[in-house]
Amino acid sequence: MTDSLTITRPDDWHLHLRDGDMLRAVLPETARHFGRAIIMPNLVPPVVTGDQAAAYRDRILAALPQGMSFAPLMTLYLTEDTDPEDVAAAHASGLVTAVKLYPAGATTNSASGVTNFDKVRPVLEKMAEIGLPLCTHGEVTDPDIDIFDREAVFIDRVLDPIRRATPGLRVVMEHITTANAADYVRSQGTVDGGDLGATITTHHLIINRNAILVGGIKPHYYCLPVAKREEHRLALRAAATSGDKRFFLGTDSAPHTDANKLSACGCAGCFTATNTMALLAHVFEEDGALDHLEGFASKHGPAFYRLPENKATLTLVKSDAPVHIPQSIATPDGPVTVFDPGFPVHWTVA
Ligand code: NCD
Ligand code: ZN
Repeated sequence: MTDSLTITRPDDWHLHLRDGDMLRAVLPETARHFGRAIIMPNLVPPVVTGDQAAAYRDRILAALPQGMSFAPLMTLYLTEDTDPEDVAAAHASGLVTAVKLYPAGATTNSASGVTNFDKVRPVLEKMAEIGLPLCTHGEVTDPDIDIFDREAVFIDRVLDPIRRATPGLRVVMEHITTANAADYVRSQGTVDGGDLGATITTHHLIINRNAILVGGIKPHYYCLPVAKREEHRLALRAAATSGDKRFFLGTDSAPHTDANKLSACGCAGCFTATNTMALLAHVFEEDGALDHLEGFASKHGPAFYRLPENKATLTLVKSDAPVHIPQSIATPDGPVTVFDPGFPVHWTVA
C-alpha cells in the first residue's frame, strides 16, 4: 500500500480568489499547496484591461501572508469592447497568461461577457498571432437549451466554429463536465504541444447530478457547469487519470458565503481549495492511477501554457484513520463551506 507520495508542487489552472476580505480569507487555502494559479477575472466590475489586471495582481500579492510563495497568473475578461492592442501589450509585458471568454449570462458575474462572437474576432485573431491562450466557459446561454445540454451545444455552435475560423488560436476548455467535451479534446490535434487542452475540477471527478438533487436539494454541490450524469463523471475520471497531457487540474474553487449559497436563488460554485489535493489523491488511488496524479496536477498545465514546472515539491501522506477536514472556513463576510466529498478521506498534505 502506498502511504506517501511526493510530487512536483501543483498549480491550479482555474481559480476564483474574489477581492477584499474574501480574497484575504481564501488566498492562503490555495497558496498553502499550489505554486501558481490562473486567476479568474469575474470580479464586479470585471478585470477587462491590462491596467485592471495589474492592480488586481497587486491586491492579490498584498493579501498573501508573509512566508507563503504563490504566483497569480492573471487573465483578462473578454468583452465585445476589448481592445486587441491592450491585450497584446498586457501579454508582451508578461502581465497576463490568458484571456477568459464568458458567454454573456452563463455564470456568476458574466453579464459583461460576449453575445456576438463576431465582435471579438479581432481580439481572437491577435491572440492566435501572439500565442495567448483563450480560456472558455463552455456553455451556451440560449434559454431554449436545457442546462444539462449547454456544454455539448457550445462545442458544436460556438467553440468548433471559432477554432476553425481562427487557426492557431490556443484554447483551454475549462471545467469540462461531459464525455462530449473529453471526446472533442481527444479528437482534435496531437497529444503533445497541441492548441487545445481542458481543465477538470476536483468536484466533477467526485459528484454527479444526483448529489445535488437526491434526498433533498444540496446547494453546496451546485456549480456551473452543473454536474451531469454518472456516465459523464466516469468519462472525466478516465480522462483525468489517463496520463493524457491534454487534461489538467483547474479546481474552479469558487467561494460564496453560506448565506449566498443557502438561498432561494443560490450562487453557483464549490469551494475546494482547502482539500483538493487530498481528494485528488483519493480519486487517483481509487482508479489505480496515483502515478498519474503528478502529471494532472503539476506537469500537463505548465506544458500547455509553455511555463516551467515548479521546482518545489508537495508530499501527500495516507493515514489509517480518516483525516479531519474543516467543514468551513471563516471569512469576515460569513462562513464558506468546504466541499464535502461524501466519503472519508485518508490522504493529507504533509
Ligand atoms: C464561478 C463563480 O462563482 O465565480 N461559479 C461556478 O459555479 N463555477 C463562475 C464560473 O466559473 O462559472
Ligand atoms: Zn470558474
